[in-house]
Amino acid sequence: MRRPLIAGNWKMHFTVPEGLEYALRLRHDLEPYAAHLDLVVLPPAVMLWEIANALRGCPIKVGAQNAGWEDQGPFTGEISPKMLAGWCDYLLIGHSERRQLFGETDEELNRKLQAAFRHGLKVILAVGETLEEYETGRTVEVITRQLSAALYGITLTAATDLTIAYEPVWAIGTGKAATPQYANQTMGLVRTLLARSFADLAASMRVIYGGSVTPANTRSLMEQPEIDGALVGGASLKAADFIQIVQATAEVVRSKRV
Ligand code: 13P
Repeated sequence: MRRPLIAGNWKMHFTVPEGLEYALRLRHDLEPYAAHLDLVVLPPAVMLWEIANALRGCPIKVGAQNAGWEDQGPFTGEISPKMLAGWCDYLLIGHSERRQLFGETDEELNRKLQAAFRHGLKVILAVGETLEEYETGRTVEVITRQLSAALYGITLTAATDLTIAYEPVWAIGTGKAATPQYANQTMGLVRTLLARSFADLAASMRVIYGGSVTPANTRSLMEQPEIDGALVGGASLKAADFIQIVQATAEVVRSKRV
């Protein structure tokens, strides 16, 4: 069984003091669950260093929501993987909000992935189809294109630090999560595609689900064989909800071990 990963994507929420206070609360309440799963928070860049320090020595890891592909230079407003290296564990790449609102292309995401691995970051690569693509039956085509473009030239060694987040765009922030069966089926496709690039490694790579994950639907999602965790948006901003999502996942892990 693959070890689950629960990641909280805070997007553009919280001030620095609020984020810090929240991280300390999570540190206190989530530590007991770290025996069963990996935990990551993805705060906004402005508070990342502060929160990394607050969580130092604790099993909750930190990650950035985005970074560029160059190490340094005239790229106003951008941060680089080199700046994150050594103290930040994860980097989220290719979130649909980055693709849609900021025009990030598959080719750019490939460069970001290469740069992140060059600096030893673990990567969560997000893929997923839009509502229109879903309704016109193009999910397989879209996921195949996004994955093969982003993973072009990525080595087997680098891929050991790669998690894929399947986030159907129509499920993000809408309250309409994919059904566990649909998510499982599409994530099975993701694993088949991973196997084309990484052969035997694909069986041990994590594929996590994102899109309206709540305490109420966590258990049914996590019980699916292809779902290795969750990338949580809105529900990761409320301690009570995020803790319940982590608890429910830990319970599924425990029940599968029995
Ligand atoms: P919601 O959980 O708010 O739907 O957001 C999902 C997401 O985009 C996580 O990256």
